[in-house]
Amino acid sequence: MANQKREIGVGLISVGWMGKVHSRAYQALPVVYPELGIKPRLVMAADTAPDRVEYAKDVLGYEQGTLDYHEVLANPEVDVVSICAPNFLHAEIAIAAAKAGKAFWVEKPVGRLAEETEAVQAAAQAAGVVSSIGFNYRHAPAVEHIKQLIADGSLGRITNIRGSFFADYSSEPNGALSWRFVRSLAGSGVLGDLMGHLVDLVQYLVGPIAEVSGMTKTVYTERPKLEMGKATHFAVIENGEMAPVENEDYAAMMVRFADDALGAGAVGTLEASRVSVGPRASYNFEIYGTEGSVKWDFERMNELQVAIGRHGAHLGYQRVMASPGFGDFSAFQPGAGTSMGYDDLKVVEARKFLEAFVGVSARNSNINDAVSANRVLGATERSAESRTWESVAAVDGTTAAKRP
Ligand SMILES: NC(=O)c1ccc[n+]([C@@H]2O[C@H](COP(=O)([O-])OP(=O)(O)OC[C@H]3O[C@@H](n4cnc5c(N)ncnc54)[C@H](O)[C@@H]3O)[C@@H](O)[C@H]2O)c1
Repeated sequence: MANQKREIGVGLISVGWMGKVHSRAYQALPVVYPELGIKPRLVMAADTAPDRVEYAKDVLGYEQGTLDYHEVLANPEVDVVSICAPNFLHAEIAIAAAKAGKAFWVEKPVGRLAEETEAVQAAAQAAGVVSSIGFNYRHAPAVEHIKQLIADGSLGRITNIRGSFFADYSSEPNGALSWRFVRSLAGSGVLGDLMGHLVDLVQYLVGPIAEVSGMTKTVYTERPKLEMGKATHFAVIENGEMAPVENEDYAAMMVRFADDALGAGAVGTLEASRVSVGPRASYNFEIYGTEGSVKWDFERMNELQVAIGRHGAHLGYQRVMASPGFGDFSAFQPGAGTSMGYDDLKVVEARKFLEAFVGVSARNSNINDAVSANRVLGATERSAESRTWESVAAVDGTTAAKRP
């Protein structure tokens, strides 16, 4: 069978944390999903840091490396590209990829502002290329199961939601001032980072958000400088030269869902923080309906809390482990209790991207989803400024949950 597999040439732009995770996902794909008949071939990787190009070739297994990402896009052997650069480059690279006719899998948030993401959307639509976004938390089997519970009415009418994506990755005051804290390089702070994931998740599960009231706060206003590509935002630098933090560490919003949302009429609150002490990567949400409720937390990714029904002696939450039948669980493990990990979510994401690329399904999150999430985040920033509710313009072609 091996010689019948369809080979897909992969280009990688930026070999940081996400570049590594995307590469591992492509490599794992034929192992996890042999039935797809897809074999990614790692053709060329680019990074401006020479040691990362070497790492891409020597360790990740790319055939060629370059310091200039344009060479990846010009390479005729490259069919699809992973764009894992810092945020300020997403739009420039994704637009160039679309113009070169390459399907792209781009990390969130895509643009620094909704307008930049919309420019990528226009380029992808004009070129007719497939896009996929790094909204990985969608793919957790427990989350996919929750989506099914909402869609089949098990929770009744959705009334309200609560979500908080709290991490400690910047809780150290001398945590390095990576590109993430500089507005021209990242755009917003925790909004574009963790809140983008949370907004995408609730839109995927409950439906489009139509209106927000937001609030933001910067807890640490300066941090020690870090040279690009030298370390990640997890690095701590003692006695370094300090520079200002230009975006928010914490954000909160109240939301109202749109009339065409599956959960129309529902309201809720969403929070995100990159400086919390205690939660390590506590990315959680709760969804409440008239017949039941669910809770999920990424720190316990393989389980969910479910309460269905309003009567009986055992009323209340039950802990349910993800198991075969939940999302893509059975592609990874044969039985419940053997846990999947973060990198596995990227394997599922690679599957959805490449299935869309070869035209067998359209289960990938796409550039319209990124525009939609970015509009919600932009409205939150405007609301934090104006101290009034802001409406969010609807986006066509998303994979948000909508009424049938
Ligand atoms: N989906 C997720 O869960 C998730 C998690 C982390 C990061 N991200 C996103 O992934 C993206 C990358 O984040 P990261 O943590 O991997 O960053 P990182 O800092 O680890 O890596 C960024 C890389 O980009 C390289 N680079 C800089 N300028 C370049 C250029 N002109 N051409 C090519 N390469 C260049 C740097 O040298 C570095 O190797 C960001 O957009 C971030 O928001 C997503």
